[in-house]
Amino acid sequence: MKGMHKSFMSRIAIYPGSFDPLTKGHLDIIRRASALFDELIVAVVGNPSKRSLFSLEEREVMLKESLHDIANVKTASFSGLLADFVRSCGACAIVRGLRGGADFENERQMAALNRVLAPDTDTVFLMTSDRYACVSSGAVKEIASLGGDISNFVTPSVEKRVRQRLSERKLC
Ligand code: PNS
Repeated sequence: MKGMHKSFMSRIAIYPGSFDPLTKGHLDIIRRASALFDELIVAVVGNPSKRSLFSLEEREVMLKESLHDIANVKTASFSGLLADFVRSCGACAIVRGLRGGADFENERQMAALNRVLAPDTDTVFLMTSDRYACVSSGAVKEIASLGGDISNFVTPSVEKRVRQRLSERKLC
């Protein structure tokens, strides 16, 4: 549109998550969502009631390590309401990945709540690619803690961090 400043027209989306740790399934959603919006902010969410393997800062570092090659992707972290964060970024959309029916009801409810809390924002769902439909951060942690191979599910740098953290925990 003539006369409009580019930043005014930027379509910003937020991809929020725990990313504890980042998986190849998350990376698949990030790459695909980044092609749909002018800017994608991948936001690590801190939840004091959830015990995580990695701190908020560590989780954001893992994102940065894997995302530096995608020009329109930024990282952030926050604790609090997603709707407030979305508003503070001027985002028009929240992106969530759907692996299948088991994710659907939770996601439907979360999208409806966020639509009430941030009426100018919509949640956009991307179906996870088939080869990552079985991948979750929880499964990655369980497999690694039981000595299994997680290299199909996470990047080499995340794998190294998971192994290191689990071996530190065993020493405690
Ligand atoms: O990766 P996850 O754990 O499935 O992500 C869930 C997350 C962090 C996106 C969700 O729990 C969230 O939005 N938390 C922020 C708090 C909030 O806004 N709660 C009310 C809306 S449901």
